[in-house]
Amino acid sequence: YLKGTLYDALGGEHAITTIVEQFYNRVGEHPELIPLFPDDLTETRRKQKQFLTQFCGGPALFTREHGHPRLRARHLPFPITPVKAEAWLDCMERALQASKLENDKAVQELYQRLTLTAHHMINTPS
Ligand code: HEM
Repeated sequence: YLKGTLYDALGGEHAITTIVEQFYNRVGEHPELIPLFPDDLTETRRKQKQFLTQFCGGPALFTREHGHPRLRARHLPFPITPVKAEAWLDCMERALQASKLENDKAVQELYQRLTLTAHHMINTPS
């Protein structure tokens, strides 16, 4: 149980920025993920910051600029196998550790929610 939003419990904008930076540094070096992503991750980072902000109960930055997330539909152009979903989650788990946020409970809650979402993105068998 967390008081207030997950966004505030994690540490707000600063926390989301840190997590996203740490995450895409790892995505950009992961052999399973490199082939799916653009070489320049600047715009990807920006959209993910917007998305995670609203996913955690902060301001609806993603929807304001891009409309309803329809996250599964937006991922259909990419063959997301169970192996790639685990690679994504592995990058995220290590990013969260490296971000050294103070509220462990909040970090665990975020990781659990992202695990469900990542599994929901699978659209191709391994
Ligand atoms: C976009 C891969 C899971 C949120 C993308 C893109 C790829 C990708 C290749 C396009 C990047 C670009 O062109 O800039 C994957 C893979 C996943 C995964 C392999 C493994 C399960 C997730 C999850 C979330 C997420 C769990 C939510 C927390 C997003 C967002 C975008 C995005 C917000 C930007 C969508 C847009 O262009 O409007 N993802 N993703 N992804 N992904 Fe994922």
